[in-house]
Amino acid sequence: MKRILVTGGCGFIGTNFIKFLFNNVSGEHTVVNVDKLTYAANPENLMDIEQNLPTRYFFEKADISDIEKIEKIIDKYEIDTIVNFAAESHVDRSIIGPQDFIQTNIIGTFCLLELVRKFQKMGKEIRFHQVSTDEVYGSLQGSEFFSETAPYNPSSPYSASKASADLLVKSYVNTYKIPATISLCSNNYGPYQFPEKLIPLMILNMLEGKELPVYGDGLHIRDWLFVEDHCSAIWMILQEGKIGESYNIGGNNQWENLKLIQFLATILAEKTGRNIEDFTKLIRFVKDRPGHDRRYAINSDKIRNELRWKESFDFTTGLRLTVDWYLNNLDWVEKVRSGDYLKWIEINYRNR
Ligand SMILES: NC(=O)c1ccc[n+]([C@@H]2O[C@H](COP(=O)([O-])OP(=O)(O)OC[C@H]3O[C@@H](n4cnc5c(N)ncnc54)[C@H](O)[C@@H]3O)[C@@H](O)[C@H]2O)c1
Repeated sequence: MKRILVTGGCGFIGTNFIKFLFNNVSGEHTVVNVDKLTYAANPENLMDIEQNLPTRYFFEKADISDIEKIEKIIDKYEIDTIVNFAAESHVDRSIIGPQDFIQTNIIGTFCLLELVRKFQKMGKEIRFHQVSTDEVYGSLQGSEFFSETAPYNPSSPYSASKASADLLVKSYVNTYKIPATISLCSNNYGPYQFPEKLIPLMILNMLEGKELPVYGDGLHIRDWLFVEDHCSAIWMILQEGKIGESYNIGGNNQWENLKLIQFLATILAEKTGRNIEDFTKLIRFVKDRPGHDRRYAINSDKIRNELRWKESFDFTTGLRLTVDWYLNNLDWVEKVRSGDYLKWIEINYRNR
């Protein structure tokens, strides 16, 4: 039984991870969700768990770089495991303003590592897991795949901040022998994803008859994984992963952006009884993102072979579930959009 501090638990993957822990994992684990509640968070995501499991789930509003407050939380709940999801996560926002990315993704991770080191010195071992991204490896040109030994070569302030945090984690393992692991995952999709990210943005724009902005020629390639499969992989690493190791998590499921949008249009047409062309005619090519990586693809043989992890959702099933979730949760969309999201879109797309 673990006493787990999940950071960023009110965001997309953190929410799914906490639900996964309570719905799919046996054992009486305790979860403390620490979240600063940025524009990307919605604490209502976990209201059901908060109400049903008041002795096993706790929420604390805090910034991971507030080292004194986090120390008190670790102490109060006798935390033995930290899973660090908290981050500024949107590449476009990191290009417009990188500062919050440096503060949360690098300094925030540093503060957590310092606390793990401090508790270790006092004789209390805390297992630390850093949730990272395949974007740290940078862009691939040919047909190869990145394995865990590939050098880091980040292109955006977002991926550079995640890469920096990973390097700090590695240094704390080597220097202070803290018990940490890292996972590097490809693009996630699924319920509760903030509608600035590609898949929910496209679903909602299709439903609302708005333009579907596609960067450059639309031939950029990403590997996609259903969020619950990411959660099961992280759980497996916490159970059986080797301290000091990094694990790639990917779906072997590469799609060009344009093809993915066309596939989404077919699913939405099927679900709404409308024509595919009603949606595909909304596609608009817009100026490419600066430093836009052409292709990400990772080799996830290590976690598959060593830990026997395997995804449970194929892409069609996962996308259908995702489209259904957004169709059934338009009130959730309205709520998260009423933050500063609309203002940001207005500024970002004004000159397009
Ligand atoms: N979304 C993906 O496709 C993907 C893929 C691979 C890795 N990741 C990584 O997974 C993690 C979660 O991503 P996501 O898509 O759920 O992000 P998200 O933006 O949906 O959620 C991030 C959460 O972190 C919280 N947060 C931000 N700054 C904080 C701070 N200083 N202190 C405490 N909480 C803070 C936010 O309020 C939010 O709830 C990130 O570390 C991201 O780099 C994401």
